[in-house]
Amino acid sequence: MTEIEPASPAHTGALAAIHAACFPPTERWDAAVIATQLSLPGTLALIAPGGGMILARAIAGEAEILTLAVIPARRQQGLGRALLIAAMTEAARRGAAVMFLEVAAANARARALYAAAGFRPVGRRPRYYANGGDAVTMAKDL
Ligand SMILES: CC(C)(COP(=O)(O)OP(=O)(O)OC[C@H]1O[C@@H](n2cnc3c(N)ncnc32)[C@H](O)[C@@H]1OP(=O)(O)O)[C@@H](O)C(=O)NCCC(=O)NCCS
Repeated sequence: MTEIEPASPAHTGALAAIHAACFPPTERWDAAVIATQLSLPGTLALIAPGGGMILARAIAGEAEILTLAVIPARRQQGLGRALLIAAMTEAARRGAAVMFLEVAAANARARALYAAAGFRPVGRRPRYYANGGDAVTMAKDL
């Protein structure tokens, strides 16, 4: 299992490369977007170098997953689950009591991962994404 470690601004390029390998061009976060996210208060960033990454925020007792990505060659080996659990653990350590996320309704893989980790659907946002797709909001008590 690749080691999961905290990501710092020095990892900006590596995080952007992983993200680019996992999302279509219109949904990619380039290095400038990642750098901005890392600079915001409460951001929680973890990387499995060359394999996957997760960005979340934990503020005022609530946490939110911003993005989760595992490169195609490393999928279905438990890395996505490990990154999610590591982020949940760190958010709880920082005092978050609940974690939220938004996932494309059509993204069956990610929804299965989140459901297996205990997240439950709590809402739906019609036409949330640029491609017109709906988002499902999911939540889990930490
Ligand atoms: C979603 C993603 C992060 C999953 O990463 P992963 O490392 O393959 O996930 P894991 O191996 O940890 O799988 C954990 C669980 O997710 C679900 N899952 C993962 N891949 C799946 C697939 N191809 N089909 C169905 N369920 C799947 C299963 O519930 C799985 O549990 P199991 O192994 O006990 O069956 C990865 O596919 C990815 O980066 N996709 C593109 C980006 C994306 O959609 N990110 C999420 C947006 S919010």
